[in-house]
Amino acid sequence: MNLWIKNGHIVDPATGRDEVGDLYVVNGKIAKELTGEYETIDATGKYVMPGFVDLHVHLREPGFEYKETIRTGTMAAARGGFTGVCPMPNTKPATDSPERIQKILEIAKKDSPIHVYPVGAITIGQAGETLTDIEGMVKAGAKAISEDGKSVMNAALYEKAMKEAARLGIPVMAHCEDKNLVGKGAMNAGKVAERLGIPGITNAVEDVIVARDILLAKETGAKLHLCHCSTADSAKMIEEARKDGVNVSGEVCPHHFTLTEEDIVEDDANFKMNPPLRKKSDVEMLKEGLRKGIFEAISTDHAPHGEEEKKKSIAEAPFGIVGSETAFALAVTELVKKGILTMSELVQKMSVNPCHILGVEGGSLAEGKPADITIADIDKEYLIEKDAFVSKGKNTPFDGKKVVGKVEYTIVEGNVVYPFK
Ligand code: DOR
Ligand code: ZN
Ligand code: ZN
Repeated sequence: MNLWIKNGHIVDPATGRDEVGDLYVVNGKIAKELTGEYETIDATGKYVMPGFVDLHVHLREPGFEYKETIRTGTMAAARGGFTGVCPMPNTKPATDSPERIQKILEIAKKDSPIHVYPVGAITIGQAGETLTDIEGMVKAGAKAISEDGKSVMNAALYEKAMKEAARLGIPVMAHCEDKNLVGKGAMNAGKVAERLGIPGITNAVEDVIVARDILLAKETGAKLHLCHCSTADSAKMIEEARKDGVNVSGEVCPHHFTLTEEDIVEDDANFKMNPPLRKKSDVEMLKEGLRKGIFEAISTDHAPHGEEEKKKSIAEAPFGIVGSETAFALAVTELVKKGILTMSELVQKMSVNPCHILGVEGGSLAEGKPADITIADIDKEYLIEKDAFVSKGKNTPFDGKKVVGKVEYTIVEGNVVYPFK
């Protein structure tokens, strides 16, 4: 269906548009003028933006369909304003072969209302021993490789993977966590962990791998993308590395710029994720890093889990919280309304830069581009309600939080995929 999106505040960093106006969609693409029959969307008082792309989600299919499926996870993303997502490979079996990539794309084609850009594992079964067929996975449609859920601890193996990624021109998305250093750590090492009697995760658990990965990227020329950065030193290292010419980018998740360890007042596993909520000085640095452009992407690390699993103690429960349906509101509430980012900068971090990092189309409302569009009211105030999530995962620390910023429409190739029909 063709669309006349009327009188919205169009923010399109790619063309420099930041003004109230109209946007036309014809045959799934942004058009200069309307032709044929069309529907009208009144966007008065709302922002009209290129569709958001989430570089980091867990869709759990295959293997953990009780937590989420490709269908429910992509619907949750659509509700959150995302027109594309990158599912991480830590499923069961892991996404570790061209056939597995193909299978995800096959399921996505029938079940997903939005684009799915699969991420292939770096080692077979994510066991850290044998490299996957990276070229085969890329030919099958993988857009990046990652060992997410863990790091490849064998630096020699990882170096090989980086060389291969560099040759193929795809990014390496790094979950930075030293397996030996982390031990049984379950939340940030500090006074709150001590009070609750829960083993801690130091900043060094993340930082030593960030340092290693940057050095390997420098040597191999690989495009390194650092996932869910949570420490002050990760920001400093990215900034330094970039001055040094290293091809490195970084993302921050909404929970890491919204909450600190001090928000964990009792043993509640809805506050448990990996990396953990850090101390205030780290969080301040993450926000400063977003403001200065050290971090060019905001991703969710949407990590749904079953209710029973998350009822356990922080020491025992699995890591991860859901994020697809709260990310935009948290970003508007914590970053835009507090003067850290402009709307245009937020659109860069949720749409333009993710597309650029992945090397996919999107992130632009220029004429002729695919009509992937997010329309939102950034002044609408409401309470986050986990029971309203379309994700199977209700594991969020934000239930009942007052936020501003509501996604009103998500449009993929000219089709309104949210609100659901
Ligand atoms: O919190 C997390 N959850 N961090 C990860 O690295 C993995 C993810 C998951 O798969 O649940
Ligand atoms: Zn991770
Ligand atoms: Zn993850």
